[in-house]
Amino acid sequence: MMITDMVDLAIDLGALRHNFERLRRLCAPGVKMMPVIKADAYGHGLLGCARTLAASGADYLGVGSVEEGRALRLAGISLPILILLGILPEDANHVVSQDFEVALYRLDVAEALDAAAAAQFKKVGVHLKVDTGMGRLGVAPQEVLPVLERLKTCGNLEVRGLISHLAMADLEDKTYTYRQISEFEELLAAARLKGFDLPLSHIANSAALLDVKAAHFSLVRPGIMLYGSPPAPGRPAPVDLKPVMSLRSQVVQLKRLPPGTSISYGGTYVTPDWCDLAVVPVGYCNGYSRLLSNRGEVLIKGRRAPIRGRVCMNLTMVEVTHIPDVEVGEPVTLLGEDGGDRLSGDELAGWAQTISYEIYCALGTANPRRFTGVEP
Ligand SMILES: Cc1ncc(COP(=O)(O)O)c(C=O)c1O
Repeated sequence: MMITDMVDLAIDLGALRHNFERLRRLCAPGVKMMPVIKADAYGHGLLGCARTLAASGADYLGVGSVEEGRALRLAGISLPILILLGILPEDANHVVSQDFEVALYRLDVAEALDAAAAAQFKKVGVHLKVDTGMGRLGVAPQEVLPVLERLKTCGNLEVRGLISHLAMADLEDKTYTYRQISEFEELLAAARLKGFDLPLSHIANSAALLDVKAAHFSLVRPGIMLYGSPPAPGRPAPVDLKPVMSLRSQVVQLKRLPPGTSISYGGTYVTPDWCDLAVVPVGYCNGYSRLLSNRGEVLIKGRRAPIRGRVCMNLTMVEVTHIPDVEVGEPVTLLGEDGGDRLSGDELAGWAQTISYEIYCALGTANPRRFTGVEP
């Protein structure tokens, strides 16, 4: 083993399954569940998560790209797959041949999909994406009816529903969210009056699944709560969620430093007193943000050890003066539980001035993953 191998990023698939089951209970019977597993399942590993969620009863899977969808099909996953970010026209053939569905917001893509489906004697399912207030992907609300009319001429497209995304469902003040939902409902009603069925229309992310029943419609698209984080960091979710990702390492050197010793690049920390310092072989190349410098903490023997000085590329220094009997090889928890205390994705995110989503994506992208818990 090398020093650089002493990074253990564990993914607890049992916790993922537990979270899925808890979320399912929040929905009325018949509401479909589409776990969002884009960006490599928020860094948790696309295939392991997809298999677990499929075995737990997911109805659909929401991926980011054609590439992610293809990996799922190669692994033998036959569930309906929606490509949430949409596709480019050149991907149309793959989409049709692998039976993906697409979030649609461009007419050139609609035409390419229609032609590809016609050539393969198939139908392709699309979900028309409308921007009800996220200010991101989607056609404008006033374009929905004209686009639906236009799509009637694409005989091989099946418009399964409308899809939209909520911008502020995690806020306590739900005014903006209810405005988005009303807009969505009005569009659905107007479209149905014109004879468009749109059976699978959806807008709810984790926060709306939890707090806004009116947003559930026929399908919900939870992401972050599946991975064990509440959608609003300050307000823990009133459901029992288990963290899925943890990060552990060990102490590779210990030293006793006199007062006035400068630690790490730039000398941003100088010991005010005698200091027992532990060196941990995890740094920003492991997705452990440099913003944690002089702010973050790790757990050693169930106690908090503060980061001293700057987080380096491969190494981080923590103070253990107050923790007796620390030895070289001592386990270090950077994310997860130790001795009754726990460092959550939200706590790390708070120190690094970001959100737990980014913490998970960064750690998951940078490190090999070890899967634990039930993997079917
Ligand atoms: C279109 C779409 N739906 C649903 C989600 C899931 O959101 P959350 O992780 O907040 O539940 C995302 C996440 O970014 C998304 O982009």
